[in-house]
Amino acid sequence: MPDYKLAVIAGDGVGPEVISEGRKVLDAVAGSNPGLSFTCTEFPWGSDYYRETGNLMPDDGIEQLAAHDAILFGAVGDPNIPDHITLHGLLLPMRRSFDQGVCIRPAYLYPGVKSPLAGKKAGDVDLVIFRENTEGEYAPIGGRLYPGTAHETVIQTNVFTRRGTERIIRAAFEYCVRRNKKNKVTSVTKSNAQAFGMVFWDEVFREVAAEFPSIETESLLVDRACMDFVRWPEEFDVVVASNLFADILSDIAAVITGSMGLAPSANINPERRHPSMFEPVHGAAFDITGKGIANPLATISAVAMMLDHLGEHEAAQKVDGAVARCLNERKVITPDLGGNATTSQVADEVVRLLAE
Ligand code: NAI
Ligand code: MG
Repeated sequence: MPDYKLAVIAGDGVGPEVISEGRKVLDAVAGSNPGLSFTCTEFPWGSDYYRETGNLMPDDGIEQLAAHDAILFGAVGDPNIPDHITLHGLLLPMRRSFDQGVCIRPAYLYPGVKSPLAGKKAGDVDLVIFRENTEGEYAPIGGRLYPGTAHETVIQTNVFTRRGTERIIRAAFEYCVRRNKKNKVTSVTKSNAQAFGMVFWDEVFREVAAEFPSIETESLLVDRACMDFVRWPEEFDVVVASNLFADILSDIAAVITGSMGLAPSANINPERRHPSMFEPVHGAAFDITGKGIANPLATISAVAMMLDHLGEHEAAQKVDGAVARCLNERKVITPDLGGNATTSQVADEVVRLLAE
């Protein structure tokens, strides 16, 4: 079995707190699988680095990361640095430079976890969001003209390419076939208002759907989709949407499964020409930073997604199994789930369950 070269960027806020726990689980996986090992290289990039150097990462940052098998990322964001600087300085360049066009965000209501939605039981939320990750509303295309004057003019352009749109939609259908649960793909747009990009997306959705006649399809406007995530989450299986819409939907999906601290995310370069990146869906979580109570399970589940991507399917399943047991037993859980354990105690519990 191989030695995987991993780039680790803990980043800001609770990022370092949850990443160190994710690494604990990786160490345990390596410890119980002779021949399987991980060589982790830490990159101290993020907001502190920005304060020192004026950049979130060095000029050759992408080149430094390129030689790794995968990237494990915490979060970026700082109360004193505007969010568009942090996001566009580190996270978005990685997603674009490594052509990580397919972002996968599963949301599952685990046994033992209470949803804020009344009457929902384990498994009632069991959906996977496919987020276009390299273009759409997040493309840095636009500008400001006559700033600070009464004539100030601001243009922000959405970018939809056939390659990017078709790639994410096809990935969603292929995954839906493999997953073989409700065999349904929902596409989310706002074509009534955005008559170019989103109408194009709907057309591509119909084209790709025609290749998968066994899969039921549905196309929803984003406002309606937000409503249905709350009232009928059990109706969803695989959901595919643009960069912005899928981002918003992922926070709803996470919170209806009990906590932001449970939702993992994989940023995949499907062609495997570049490293893929694995991270929790949540951000820097300033309100709980430094308290030692951030839920590490989103990161640990992201580690499982990384193992799966690397081809270590059995190890990935074991980590998923340990997360599920930890939640079901409810003995060692963080305050967001109603417990009083620390970040580190939860990861220790996952490690203990892995060894059982
Ligand atoms: P957030 O995801 O950081 O926090 C939202 C809420 O979820 C907060 O109440 C927080 O305490 C809770 N939460 C988040 N992670 C948790 C965990 N592991 N355990 C328990 N509770 C958890 O989103 P917010 O507040 O909008 O953003 C804060 C900063 O993070 C901003 O600077 C933002 O730009 C950045 N951000 C970065 C992201 C990334 O690096 N991928 C993603 C989202 C936000
Ligand atoms: Mg988000």
